[in-house]
Amino acid sequence: MATHSPLLPCAIVVVLVLLPSASLAGDSDLLQDICVADLTSAVKVNGFACKATVTEDDFYFKGLGAAGNTNNTYGSVVTGANVEKVPGLNTLGVSMSRIDYAPGGLNPPHIHPRATEMIFVLQGTLDVGFITTGNKLVAKTITTGDVFVCPRGLVHFQKNNGNVPAAVISAFNSQLPGTQSLAMTLFAATPEVPNNVLTKAFQVGTKEVEKIKSRLAPKKS
Ligand SMILES: *[C@@H]1O[C@H](CO)[C@@H](O)[C@H](O)[C@H]1NC(C)=O
Repeated sequence: MATHSPLLPCAIVVVLVLLPSASLAGDSDLLQDICVADLTSAVKVNGFACKATVTEDDFYFKGLGAAGNTNNTYGSVVTGANVEKVPGLNTLGVSMSRIDYAPGGLNPPHIHPRATEMIFVLQGTLDVGFITTGNKLVAKTITTGDVFVCPRGLVHFQKNNGNVPAAVISAFNSQLPGTQSLAMTLFAATPEVPNNVLTKAFQVGTKEVEKIKSRLAPKKS
């Protein structure tokens, strides 16, 4: 007769408890080697439908080598290398981006609903931080070669307080992390978030709310 270790039931319980958390940690797990995104398909699935014909260029992107143009309101620019640029990332659960910062540049407070982010500093020095749901600011000054982590879904930012440009590479555990930039989300949505929601939320008057909305409105050229 087989003898069972008394620890076996415990081990089974531990495995059953850990299994769902492993599969919920990032994007859904893949069910085949590759599923290169057909970005033009009308078929809606969780992610993108798979293309029939695949080439090496579906797994290739050249765009992160050079600094992006930071001549804008915030003095920073994000260049994504996600599934929209690299269709081969579809179902693989990872992506990257490069962020460039002019002196004084800010990547304003934002969240990624689908990914944790790891920042690796290519050059310069940045003041970075995230805020927990308990409203604690976790902040640090980081410099060339340093890594900083922003947990999934938490508000975070990076500011270049130096007088030379800065740049980072960001890694994400999602093929398309998504970004909600708080100021733009609240003050530049279409249709507009009602003024009486924002005046009460921020405890200011309609004039102040309208001033922010006009500053953040997409520039008409
Ligand atoms: C930055 O952008 C502004 C407005 O688009 C433009 O007038 C200015 O010449 C630009 N500066 C540089 C250095 O490109």
